[in-house]
Amino acid sequence: MNTLDQQTATEQAARERMKASHALDGDAGRLADLYRGWASSFDRDQGHVGYRGPVIVAELAGAVQAAYLDGQRNAIAILDAGCGTGLVGVELERLGFRVIDGFDLSDEMAEKARQTGVYRHARGDVDLNGQLSDYPSASYDLTVCCGVLTLGHVRPDGLRELARVTRPNGFVIASTRKSYAETTSFEGEVRRLQDEGVLIPAQCLRNGRYVAEEDAHYWAFRVPAK
Ligand SMILES: C[S@@+](CC[C@H](N)C(=O)[O-])C[C@H]1O[C@@H](n2cnc3c(N)ncnc32)[C@H](O)[C@@H]1O
Repeated sequence: MNTLDQQTATEQAARERMKASHALDGDAGRLADLYRGWASSFDRDQGHVGYRGPVIVAELAGAVQAAYLDGQRNAIAILDAGCGTGLVGVELERLGFRVIDGFDLSDEMAEKARQTGVYRHARGDVDLNGQLSDYPSASYDLTVCCGVLTLGHVRPDGLRELARVTRPNGFVIASTRKSYAETTSFEGEVRRLQDEGVLIPAQCLRNGRYVAEEDAHYWAFRVPAK
């Protein structure tokens, strides 16, 4: 196989892994298994599929912080939900954020995030399809979630827990792959949570770059003062 063939085969394998992850229907055991095997090559594969999510989520978090949050950027407490190998944390750190916690369903992905050195804590074995029982309410100024509210991963009602751990007048920043927003009742869930006073949609960058094959929407939700 020549170099070009090898590159094409590697890119094809990266797309296949991404597709496989979308077919797991939120099954925590199968997702954890898949990401256990993917942790060591995840970052390289994201280069192959043209993954832009982490840069855009981090830049949106930066803009929201500058526009709406008091205090120095380096003291803003951020939770990176489904932090994976830490691609979002690295971008946040580049922008001057310094208090960054993360969690992920997969221990192996969280271990990679810890190795970046930008997280205060990065815990594995935390499932956003359930209660985040180790995370007290109103503990973060910003909660970010990139590539996790996506096909086969976390249901739209995961937003409720993201809002709970965010303090009043803090923000949740999340990406939703277009096909996820269309095939789940994501916008219906947003309306429900808004009606219940859980969050308020503040900004949405629609149809932003995400991966080469598909765009995403990038959301900023404000958690209302109680
Ligand atoms: C596409 S990766 C995105 C990782 C990282 N946020 C990024 O943008 O590079 C999806 C991540 O979500 C995690 N994940 C999947 N289901 C989850 C769940 N129910 N709770 C927490 N994390 C989950 C996976 O283990 C994986 O690390």
